[in-house]
Amino acid sequence: MRILFLGDLVGKPGYTAMHQQAQILRKELSLDALVVNAENAADGSGLTNRQFRRLIDSGIDAITMGDHIYRQWELAKTLRSSDKIVKPANFPADSPGRCWTIVPTSDGGSLAVVSLLGRVFMRPVDCPFQAIDRALDEIGDQTQHILVDIHAEATSDKQVIGRYLDGRVSAVIGTHTHVPTADGCIFPGGTAFQCDVGMSGAYESIIGRDIERVTLTTRTAEPTHFNVATRDVRLCGAIVDIDSEGQAISIERFEKRIKKSHS
Ligand SMILES: [Fe+2]
Ligand SMILES: [Fe+2]
Repeated sequence: MRILFLGDLVGKPGYTAMHQQAQILRKELSLDALVVNAENAADGSGLTNRQFRRLIDSGIDAITMGDHIYRQWELAKTLRSSDKIVKPANFPADSPGRCWTIVPTSDGGSLAVVSLLGRVFMRPVDCPFQAIDRALDEIGDQTQHILVDIHAEATSDKQVIGRYLDGRVSAVIGTHTHVPTADGCIFPGGTAFQCDVGMSGAYESIIGRDIERVTLTTRTAEPTHFNVATRDVRLCGAIVDIDSEGQAISIERFEKRIKKSHS
């Protein structure tokens, strides 16, 4: 099974590129599954119901989110009703959304998708270890192919989750920092890992936002709206090949530069 997982879609540039490229990527890369983190799709914060529907219709199998999941509160409706999107499994039990999902894949198999939030330099959330243990218990033997999006600030926070899950899931892939890391590997137990796949958005930016605005606010404390940047749009992620037992065979960084007309 070949999966492409793409990091945080940021604003219109990331969302539009993803929407336009989904079918092309599926074909070009012979993908069995395409999973995307979309927590920053709606002008940099959250995801709208319309964007969700259009992304799924364009050929995305499942969507993960992160700390910005409820910034567009209308999405709560989708989170309660759709099995194509998950909330972080260590969010409060009563918050809208499911803790894991299983989606069919193009090779006739299925893929479980789980999202977790880290706890270092992040707002307080429930224990990610207990949350993933619970999710894996519930998934049981419904599928051997399991992808975990670890959405966290600190590399160590991501590594400890990756090591904890080695041999129990197919891949633990990081998001949230919007900057790709060069540490893609397969752990001894057969789990693919990368600290962060980077964002899908404009790289002439400060993590997807306008350089001047972010610099001004950082230097002077003057509050400004951090406009989404538009130049040098790239889709970034990781391609993971998984065997029939659910063990990762390879993980490769993925990056595609999008021509200007898409931004
Ligand atoms: Fe993000
Ligand atoms: Fe985030």
